[in-house]
Amino acid sequence: MEHRQFIWTLSLAVSLFSGGGAAGAAEPTTFNKDVLPILQRNCQACHRPGQIAPMSLLSYENARPWAKAIKQKVITRQMPPWNADPTVGKFSNDSSLQQMEIDLIAAWVDQGAIEGDAKDRPALVAWPDGGWQVQPDHIVKGPETKVPASAKNNVIEWFRVAMPSGLDKDTWVSSIEVKPSEPAVTHHICVHLMPHNEDVKYGERYWNEVIRDDRGVELPRKKGETAQQNLDARPALRDASEGEACYLPGLQSLMDYRPKGAAKLIPAGTDIVFSLHYTPNGKEVVDRPVVGFTIAKQEPARRYVSLTVRGPQDAENFAIPAGEANWKAPHGEAVLDQDVEIVWLSPHMHLRGKSMLFQVIYPDGRKQDLLNVPRYDFNWQLGYELAAPVKVPKGSKIITTAYFDNSVNNKFNPDPKQTVYYGGMVWEEMSSGFVGMLVDKHVKAGQVFVRAAQAGAHASE
Ligand code: HEC
Repeated sequence: MEHRQFIWTLSLAVSLFSGGGAAGAAEPTTFNKDVLPILQRNCQACHRPGQIAPMSLLSYENARPWAKAIKQKVITRQMPPWNADPTVGKFSNDSSLQQMEIDLIAAWVDQGAIEGDAKDRPALVAWPDGGWQVQPDHIVKGPETKVPASAKNNVIEWFRVAMPSGLDKDTWVSSIEVKPSEPAVTHHICVHLMPHNEDVKYGERYWNEVIRDDRGVELPRKKGETAQQNLDARPALRDASEGEACYLPGLQSLMDYRPKGAAKLIPAGTDIVFSLHYTPNGKEVVDRPVVGFTIAKQEPARRYVSLTVRGPQDAENFAIPAGEANWKAPHGEAVLDQDVEIVWLSPHMHLRGKSMLFQVIYPDGRKQDLLNVPRYDFNWQLGYELAAPVKVPKGSKIITTAYFDNSVNNKFNPDPKQTVYYGGMVWEEMSSGFVGMLVDKHVKAGQVFVRAAQAGAHASE
């Protein structure tokens, strides 16, 4: 290259580079260019009409009044909610923000939260109608329930109601989503599958009278007795599966098997059992929950099976002493009787729940942490989708280790002076590890695990 031309080329390159750089630095951070793509990816699943968050973040008009609050919530990492220990496992639904994204949002707010150029705006996300996360192919209506404005000690016992599935042939469903119409009074809605039996009456409430003291606390049970609210005992509902999908505070109920190429078989004549727990909040409302299914186009290679890992629930083994800040529950355990791939995990405890660790112990004794939730929060009962399924051979154990804080330092603790027993109300405690797994499509849920001594586990199709 000739010397002068080289200098010229070099200086042009330098001026282009630095000119571009200077313009970039001066260019303001805008909603359309910088912020909206982050909101679409990390926030809108909850922040849009019909979802659990209080305001929509679909548009500039929606988001602008919240700019300061948005900055505050993202720099403190309160939003998006995500409670997993980042050093354990990788999760495909991890919506937590990169530091760079937090910096962009903060810069946008600091520079006046401007909208920017319309041509920078990404295409709007096509969210499904009606508040669904996934547009269902088949919808089953749940029972209508009038929830009173108040109740004694605010207790309405859990109840279950069976409804026909409306599926008249064997159907592989590839997602399940539960939608309450009155989230403000909904403590949980879970759906269960059950082969139809002659004893069941559609629309009828099945529930247990629970003996409670004058504060509404279930009286402690004797050793060996399970929670009075363990409703499986009712004859008509004896074959109901574990919860297949649940709406819980902070948990979006969608169980989506499609990305894993899996599905769940609903045999013809299956009924849908709704488990409903309402908490009055001062105004009478009528809840009309619905459950939506997508239907697999073809038979999948793998079947999705849900497993609940629990420890003992009787009063002798499960009693959290008053004031105790770090009580370790007897561990939950399930021994696998099949090769499985673990794909989804979710801890469930109540207001004293502090942490839960999920581990697998392989037949050779090797231990692996699957998920650690070091600061469990009842208000954010998230499900964690493993980015890569963990292959676990037959003979392995899944173990859950949970701690509870019954001290005054737990700001959610309704009464640190009480010994707390296992029970279904939020002021009682639970310790359940929900596990989603894939098995060969020929394997039935009942074949997946063997019950371990001193622990409980239950699997369902
Ligand atoms: C899993 C669902 C979910 C996701 C994802 C989520 N939010 Fe939220 N957000 C909520 C809910 C529910 C509330 C109300 C309860 C609360 O404030 O804790 C909330 C509250 C907020 C608030 C406070 C509103 C107020 O009343 O002061 C802000 C600000 C916010 N979210 C911003 C965001 C931003 C920004 C993102 C994404 C970066 C995001 N959220 C992601 C569910 C979510």
